[in-house]
Amino acid sequence: MARVLITRKLQPVAKEILSKQFEVEENPTDKPLSRDELKTAVKKYDGILSVLSDRFDHEVLSEATLLKVISNYAAGLDNIDALFARQKGIVVLNLPDIVTDSTADLTFALFLSFIRRIKEASHFVLEGRWEGWEPGLFLGEELRGKKFGIIGYGKIGQAVAQRALGFGLDILVYARKKVVIEDRRIEQLSLEELYHSSDYISLHVPLTQETAGMIDLKAMHSMRKKPVLINMARGGIIKTDDLVIALREGVIRGAALDVTDPEPISSSHPLCRMNNCLILPHIGSATIECRTKMARIAAENLKGALS
Ligand code: GLV
Repeated sequence: MARVLITRKLQPVAKEILSKQFEVEENPTDKPLSRDELKTAVKKYDGILSVLSDRFDHEVLSEATLLKVISNYAAGLDNIDALFARQKGIVVLNLPDIVTDSTADLTFALFLSFIRRIKEASHFVLEGRWEGWEPGLFLGEELRGKKFGIIGYGKIGQAVAQRALGFGLDILVYARKKVVIEDRRIEQLSLEELYHSSDYISLHVPLTQETAGMIDLKAMHSMRKKPVLINMARGGIIKTDDLVIALREGVIRGAALDVTDPEPISSSHPLCRMNNCLILPHIGSATIECRTKMARIAAENLKGALS
């Protein structure tokens, strides 16, 4: 009977599905496996259901002897050297369609929280500082008619655009290929044009060699309207040190981040100390519906590929 490892305690449905056909072990702790444990796992199991914090890089995969399939409980695949895995005959699978709505919803939850100053306003109440209604208390920004730049127009980028239309935003899109856009409130531009014209810029590209560090100080200097930057994709797309400088010097006016580089980011990091930066702990897909579906489909993917 083939042996399968689930590297992190997931929603029970994953183990239920896999146990019908395989001998399954699930990491009983709620902690990521160490590199050494991953190196052992690739020698011991036929299939692995992994999570995005497991780094299956060249070094770890070089140890693989038995492994045939990695099914990643994530849309992104940047934690796996997929090219090398394929060279070794290991099938690598991800969840490209499932996280779309949860991630697009959170893009707006995070973005609106930032521009309407929800965190500060809530702290103000909890700290007992609210003495009554004031005309100038926590003034934020209105969205209608502003330009919302979306970098990456895959499923999540498109779902974000649909939500943005509901807020009366005009949408600017950058995508590598020409995309078919039927709504005249959505316009495809070059990256430079998008940087130049956007009041807000939301990142929805995968982390690849091409996108790693693409948002550096030079790029931020070309963002003429000093936009708010929203990152729901991967921390490594923005150069963190450059972001600190840009926020400190007012090159851009804010950052709303669900992902950071590094992850987790220490609470003493300069980004966590800035009023113009709002950070969440990578919870884009964290809804009950989405995570349950992710567990089920990741398990089914693994089952299908191993059978
Ligand atoms: C989350 O970031 C994912 O890639 O699923």
